[in-house]
Amino acid sequence: VEACARFRQVICHYFRHHARQMPWRETDDPYRIFVSEVMLQQTQVERVRKKYPEFIERFSDFAALAAAEQREVLEAWQGLGYNRRALALRQAAQTIVRDFGGKVPDDPAVLERLPGIGKATAASVAAFVHNRPTVFIETNVRRLFIHFFFRGREEVRDAEILPLVAMTLDPAHPREFYWAVMDYGTMLKKRYPNPNRRSASYTRQAPFEGSDRQVRGRMLKA
Ligand code: ADE
Repeated sequence: VEACARFRQVICHYFRHHARQMPWRETDDPYRIFVSEVMLQQTQVERVRKKYPEFIERFSDFAALAAAEQREVLEAWQGLGYNRRALALRQAAQTIVRDFGGKVPDDPAVLERLPGIGKATAASVAAFVHNRPTVFIETNVRRLFIHFFFRGREEVRDAEILPLVAMTLDPAHPREFYWAVMDYGTMLKKRYPNPNRRSASYTRQAPFEGSDRQVRGRMLKA
């Protein structure tokens, strides 16, 4: 618990001074945030930055993306890689328009049924679009938590990290919490180019909702 408090202090302080600006952090538009999360799944921030504005301009909302030809979407996706994601994103837009009245569901279990949306992305979409205190891990989150709580250990499973995320997560400010964790985690990569090796056997785990009561009161004050 003490370590968690220290952790929050450290990332909070870091974020106050070094928060990165990104176009998808400066909008409340669920569509824009949704697209960014899909792009950021497997593509580095700098590359996404280059392609994102053009993509958003070309397909400005779910309806436009849903109505686009596959070919057009693939063309706008050029440079982001893993083209199947582009096709899935278009299909997800169609489902959102058709089944959800153009609104992004806020339940991770529902989000997960969308094409191309796995457990972690479902949780991150719920957090960034709806500011829901979901618990998830991606590469920078993992790096930071290993650095802070498991330094020197070679094999750390997601199942060991997730409870710590749940405990440190600021339930009142999930967005800012994850922005801060991701920014700090990214900075660590630059500082330690050869961090703890990731376990070959680390297991992907279902993210789970932090129990609100359990984590409430542990504030990041971002
Ligand atoms: N800001 C919002 N979502 C992000 C992500 N997935 N990676 C980095 N920064 C982000």
